[in-house]
Amino acid sequence: MSKLRRLGQTDLYVSALGLGTWQYSTNEGKNGTMWESVEAETIYDIIKFSLQNGINWLDTAEIYGNGTSENFIGNTLQRLKKEAALLREPLIASKWFPLARAASSIPKTIDTRLKYLQVPTIDLYQIHQPTSRSSLDKQIEAMVKLAEANKIKQIGVSNFTAKQMIKADLLLKERGMTLASNQVKYNLLHKKPEKNGVLEAAKELGITIIAYSPLQQGLLTGRFHEQPEALAKISRLRKIQSHLNQKTIKRTQPLYAELKKLSLEYGVSVAQISLNWLIHSQGSMVLAIPGASKLKQAQENIGTLEFTLSNAQLKKLSAISDCL
Ligand SMILES: NC(=O)c1ccc[n+]([C@@H]2O[C@H](COP(=O)([O-])OP(=O)(O)OC[C@H]3O[C@@H](n4cnc5c(N)ncnc54)[C@H](OP(=O)(O)O)[C@@H]3O)[C@@H](O)[C@H]2O)c1
Repeated sequence: MSKLRRLGQTDLYVSALGLGTWQYSTNEGKNGTMWESVEAETIYDIIKFSLQNGINWLDTAEIYGNGTSENFIGNTLQRLKKEAALLREPLIASKWFPLARAASSIPKTIDTRLKYLQVPTIDLYQIHQPTSRSSLDKQIEAMVKLAEANKIKQIGVSNFTAKQMIKADLLLKERGMTLASNQVKYNLLHKKPEKNGVLEAAKELGITIIAYSPLQQGLLTGRFHEQPEALAKISRLRKIQSHLNQKTIKRTQPLYAELKKLSLEYGVSVAQISLNWLIHSQGSMVLAIPGASKLKQAQENIGTLEFTLSNAQLKKLSAISDCL
């Protein structure tokens, strides 16, 4: 097992990488069309490999295929347990989807999450976005009630600004808990959390940052720099969301060149260097949750837990990305 990190100020300890599972939406729901369908057997192989090789937690959400991703996780974990293939229970992070919904839907939907995941408790339950019809106070109150009922253990948020995150932490502290994490988009090509106060406030309050889209949906693996024609196969939504286009590939060449240079120096892949920067450049407060649709991607990504870039190398990558 790789060295574990404390999740916020909680009693949960997690690996620097978790497995992102939005990919397992099999084109279900509005949110599922982003990714090609992944076969159940491939999902099984990826989860099994990840949990046996240093990852101890999985990130999912209600909205990923309207429960499809949670369902895959539940079925896979049951199968792995039957096969005695797990040394320890993994931790599970899921999310309530608040768009145009009131806080009253938090207790109404939790039992479906638990049923799909086939667990009695979700370790980290996150408010997916700051978009509920209810006040943050009402949402936090509903989340705390779930914790008191042992349906969830810890509470996190996602896509929250620094101000919203600080408020969520305060509201939790008034109720005897703390905010465990804020899950935001963060990678070498998207460093907003460094500039909008999220990282700074999280550091001050001891809140963990969970970096989503850590590979900028494939761009930071170098695969589109090496084969720009592969862009044609990517969904339109993904192209828009991650600026996957020829212009970006051209603009980001200096970063790709440095990532490639380091990958040759360490004998690892470009993806591993990108992830390594993410989980080390801010000490241990940033975790990353790369998604994988193929076993070899998961195998490769986990390899980043085996080495650490030097401070000078981390700083050089930051400086290059700042100049793009
Ligand atoms: N909270 C939120 O609002 C939010 C938003 C987005 C994501 N998330 C979470 O974060 C996770 C990760 O984010 P993401 O899926 O958007 O982006 P990502 O992890 O940056 O990119 C994942 C994609 O990159 C490609 N990839 C991964 N490893 C690779 C490797 N070693 N070599 C080549 N290609 C590789 C794969 O593309 P192909 O499938 O095309 O091969 C994979 O599907 C999600 O699964 C989800 O759990 C949360």
